[in-house]
Amino acid sequence: MAMAMRLILLLPVIGCATAAGGGRVDLWPMPASVSSGDKALYVAKDLKMSAVGSKYADGKTILVEAFQRIVSVIQMDHAIVGSYDRLPVLTGVNVVVHSPDDELKFGVDESYNLSIPATGSPMYAQIEAQTVFGALHALETISQLCYFDFVLSITRLDSAPWTIMDMPRFPYRGLLIDTARHYLPVPVIKSVIDSMTYSKLNVLHWHIVDEQSFPIEIHSYPELSNGAYSYSEKYTISDALDIVQYAEKRGVNVLAEIDIPGHARSWGVGYPSLWPSASCQQPLDVSNDFTFKVIDGILSDFSKVFKFKFVHLGGDEVDTSCWATTPHIKSWLVQHGMNESDAYRYFVVRAQKIAISHGYDIINWEETFNNFGDKLDRKTVVHNWLGRGVAEKAVSAGLRCIVSNADKWYLDHLDATWEGFYMNEPLANIYNPEQQKLILGGEVCMWGERIDASDIQQTIWPRAAAAAERLWTPVEKLAKNVTTVTARLARFRCLLNERGVAAAPLAGYGRAAPLEPGSCMRQ
Ligand SMILES: *[C@@H]1O[C@H](CO)[C@@H](O)[C@H](O)[C@H]1NC(C)=O
Ligand SMILES: *[C@@H]1O[C@H](CO)[C@@H](O)[C@H](O)[C@H]1NC(C)=O
Ligand SMILES: *[C@@H]1O[C@H](CO)[C@@H](O)[C@H](O)[C@H]1NC(C)=O
Repeated sequence: MAMAMRLILLLPVIGCATAAGGGRVDLWPMPASVSSGDKALYVAKDLKMSAVGSKYADGKTILVEAFQRIVSVIQMDHAIVGSYDRLPVLTGVNVVVHSPDDELKFGVDESYNLSIPATGSPMYAQIEAQTVFGALHALETISQLCYFDFVLSITRLDSAPWTIMDMPRFPYRGLLIDTARHYLPVPVIKSVIDSMTYSKLNVLHWHIVDEQSFPIEIHSYPELSNGAYSYSEKYTISDALDIVQYAEKRGVNVLAEIDIPGHARSWGVGYPSLWPSASCQQPLDVSNDFTFKVIDGILSDFSKVFKFKFVHLGGDEVDTSCWATTPHIKSWLVQHGMNESDAYRYFVVRAQKIAISHGYDIINWEETFNNFGDKLDRKTVVHNWLGRGVAEKAVSAGLRCIVSNADKWYLDHLDATWEGFYMNEPLANIYNPEQQKLILGGEVCMWGERIDASDIQQTIWPRAAAAAERLWTPVEKLAKNVTTVTARLARFRCLLNERGVAAAPLAGYGRAAPLEPGSCMRQ
């Protein structure tokens, strides 16, 4: 009896597993334009990649390695042992990349065209992209069309021919990780980067240090990492470089953050003179030139490793009372004719100048803009987090903005639902096209107070994927009613699980456990 029940329940699930049966397009995020047919193809076990007509030489082996990864996630450890006899076979993928440039600059062209034929022998899918990073997205799209056919024991791709034209809506599609509240080992960070590429996110915002710990070694000021939690919960600068290079090969930029002058208590473990006093330990001592020398040293070391156009200088939640109550700072303020808020502004602007001298544009949390927006360098990007409303003000002041409003896009808020992540619109209340362009995109934030290596992935996914579609797909193709994308997101969640990513069920809140026995697609 139990057996029969299970079989009945399984039947519709097998139907779901076909990649695109009945005109369904099970891609996440949804491409800008898709058309498909009704032919099934079988994917050659030794799928080949060619580059006929490409100007890109792949000197860094970005493409070759991406192709190997895609073949491996397509085959998903199934033994491909069936016969291809008399079946239509997809022999390979021809990748044409127009630009020889392989630098992952901000705003790099990530568009691609993908066509998969339904007939011919040999049969090649054709990818066309301006840069190799567009080609990586195209490979990811192909991988989502494939599935293992358990009857024939080979990989299948339905609904050919396919014609897909695709490009991101926003150039900045971020995910924040926080290695100060809990340390995250390097392999965990790499697995987060891999999982980001599955939903085409392209910026890993690395909130490296905070008041609780300083886990990274800085050559110019080696005592800073005395603020790490333990002898092993640290990153060397080579680890950081390894992470940056790993991410770049996957089309992901790494945005480094030092959150100053608040959120910096851990800096003083190694250099106590950075504290206002031993009993009043943050914000960093604004009156001490050494503070700015240390910031300069850190950013100098960063500039050799973190090549992204931007560095994040924090600037949020600054409680200046230690400045007002510590005698030597108090008299410095009087000498310089500054009150506490003047000193906060002085600190932020001086730190911005240091970052600019190292070639960076700056991102600051929104309090800096809210308090003294007109004094910020024009290169500042305002990072919204406190709620809705500041993005409109920032872009009407002519500054760029990244949207992360905490009520919808904070992953540590376990009661923030995937539906809320999906429906959060970065351009809400911004109608002027010139101002819309100043919204670089958005970012979901995985603050680390209550997550670590044991549960980070299930807290990030699938909710981050819901935001990823909002940031990638043209607005007119986004669901107006989220219930229309539930099945497609559920399938993507299962795909993440199949690829070894511990994405949580959709039902309920963040990081929820499955409620009862049943298919992955129905949780
Ligand atoms: C994709 O095809 C369209 C239409 O032919 C063309 O305008 C566009 O430049 C192509 N994009 C790429 C990345 O090759
Ligand atoms: C601080 O001083 C500035 C003028 O330098 C003034 O505009 C501002 O209102 C003062 N802020 C406070 C909190 O007193
Ligand atoms: C969304 O669609 C579902 C199912 O069709 C429907 O029950 C629900 O009322 C819709 N919600 C809104 C806000 O229109």
